[in-house]
Amino acid sequence: MTVFEATCTAPVNIAVVKYWGKRDTSLILPTNSSLSVTLSQDQLHSKTTIRASADFTSDRLWLNGIEESIEKNKRLVACLRETRALRRTQIEDKDPSAPKISNLAIHICSENNFPTAAGLASSASGYACLVYTLSKLFELPLDASDLSIVARQGSGSACRSLFGGFVAWEMGTKEDGSDSKAVQIAPETHWPDLQAMICVVSDEKKGTSSTEGMQLTVKTSALLQHRIKEVVPKRMEDMIAAIHNKDFPKFAELTMQDSNQFHAVCLDTYPPIFYMNDISRAIIRIITEYNKDGVKAAYTFDAGPNAVIYAPKDNMAEIYAILSHYFPNAAFDDSMGLLKETALPSLPKSFDTRISPVFPEGSVKQILHTKADGGPRVLDSATHGLLNSEGLPK
Ligand code: DP6
Repeated sequence: MTVFEATCTAPVNIAVVKYWGKRDTSLILPTNSSLSVTLSQDQLHSKTTIRASADFTSDRLWLNGIEESIEKNKRLVACLRETRALRRTQIEDKDPSAPKISNLAIHICSENNFPTAAGLASSASGYACLVYTLSKLFELPLDASDLSIVARQGSGSACRSLFGGFVAWEMGTKEDGSDSKAVQIAPETHWPDLQAMICVVSDEKKGTSSTEGMQLTVKTSALLQHRIKEVVPKRMEDMIAAIHNKDFPKFAELTMQDSNQFHAVCLDTYPPIFYMNDISRAIIRIITEYNKDGVKAAYTFDAGPNAVIYAPKDNMAEIYAILSHYFPNAAFDDSMGLLKETALPSLPKSFDTRISPVFPEGSVKQILHTKADGGPRVLDSATHGLLNSEGLPK
């Protein structure tokens, strides 16, 4: 019997103009456009294998080794329904000899190469990977923007992970969401000098989910209305220009301002939402001090305390040296070989170390060095597939 199978990986993206707020919660249509940088899959990715077979009796899903219900997850159901409908209308209805894969049950096995609990945008890479793998399984004749419309219905930020490099999610105006899609502003090759350092900050308490948090902001924050109408449209234009011009100081200033405003609308939410903690705020002070004679790095924070620091390649060793001064013994993922290339530099002479205390060990659990990089990839299922011959996780 013919087995239909595909295995793919998809990257994480970190926004520099943040998505926060939906105008339609079931189609996941945002209240403003957003823009992100896709990070390298060498450090962070989701990997998914999907098999369709007449032997399977129902759709099943395993996430990081644990079976999860599909029916209870409306967003997942929407992605499956949409891609199966596209298989039918784009292929099976047009070509009677095409296999009717859309009628077969599927098994989905997906895993992240990083702990989901670290709060590193796993829904973005996860849903981008799901939809991209489905598109390969069903051989859909769609481009990445078309696919982003489906991935958006899994998780808003996922639509931007269908592309590498610098990616805008255009909010669109249509009610059916057909113009709310991701477009590539520039490929990863455009600005190879741009790198990132992720600080995984320790946090005991479970924060408000982005999905819940953003709707409470839409309901209660007057500042969000100002952001949507007056700030983001111009900021998107300025950010796109800064990227095209590879103008790091401008890119960095806009990135930090947008992160600050996102956390300001969280504070303006009633009751307020706090995502940053004392460690996050210390990182802001550290980067601000580092930038005092010219902008050399940009911080940004999503719906959690972790920091992502964007900077040109040549500043990375210095930034790592400063971070390891304040956050001793954080585990360092040096798969990019930063410390092989350069000895750890001393802190810049003008840097006033008194701006923050040195934190106890474990305050920052991990520091990860990565860079802007490409979009989803197809792997060979025979060697990289996650399902065994029975269609169960290996
Ligand atoms: C702060 O995409 O996780 O990371 O669409 O409800 O799944 P849902 O939300 P999600 O929100 C991400 C918000 C953010 C900013 C961003 O990535 O643009």
